[in-house]
Amino acid sequence: MQIIKAKDYKDMSRKAAGILAAQIIMKPDCVLGLATGSTPVGIYEQLIQWHKTGSLSFAGVRTVNLDEYKGLAPGHEQSYRYFMDDHLFSHVDIDKKATHTPDGLAEDEAAECRRYDEVIRQMQGVDMQLLGLGHNGHIGFNEPAEAFQKGTHCVTLTESTIQANSRLFERIEDVPRQAYTMGIKTIMGAKKILLVVSGQDKAGILREACFGPVTPKVPASVLQLHPDVTLVGDAEALSLIG
Ligand code: GLP
Repeated sequence: MQIIKAKDYKDMSRKAAGILAAQIIMKPDCVLGLATGSTPVGIYEQLIQWHKTGSLSFAGVRTVNLDEYKGLAPGHEQSYRYFMDDHLFSHVDIDKKATHTPDGLAEDEAAECRRYDEVIRQMQGVDMQLLGLGHNGHIGFNEPAEAFQKGTHCVTLTESTIQANSRLFERIEDVPRQAYTMGIKTIMGAKKILLVVSGQDKAGILREACFGPVTPKVPASVLQLHPDVTLVGDAEALSLIG
């Protein structure tokens, strides 16, 4: 794992955006695996800025997102599809048909998981996967479990995740209890992984993920086994490992 130390959130966002931009410039039709949450917001802002100044085009880029809440329509303000449109896709020259998220409204759960795995397979895999880190070590919505899950699956969210994500909803009761997520095998199949972590509150779990035992109880610990991971963290997040 390569560790890149950033001063603060802004610096982390710029450094991580630089890595994604380099990937797009080197392979304009690359497949990016994208993430939601607060951490990548600054990265997307930087990418939009570079697009607006003419130095970055997304015209050939294809994307697959990690996850989506079950039960939320794409137009729902808290859906991850809405988040991606709002924070990136609507501000750059990407072909929206080439951007993919699980369908939160799918009626047949198993069929939706198969469909999403097939979307990724048809793209011949992910060139660079962007990942945030949950407070309990989750990646995507792969929550702590007894075993690593392989492909796309539907998870029941843990109370701590529901609590953490409730900050974006009006009431905690509004947070969906289930979500679709890419599996660990799919994430590990990405050619390159870019993990971004910010803030003191993530320092402990980041140390566990990077230097603790590899265990499905800390899903991000599996990244220790991936051959090409870059971690970009700010000083607070890296304070226990830097
Ligand atoms: C959410 C998302 C993850 C994200 C994580 C951390 O639940 N499903 O993909 O990485 O939690 O979010 P944040 O960056 O807001 O701390």
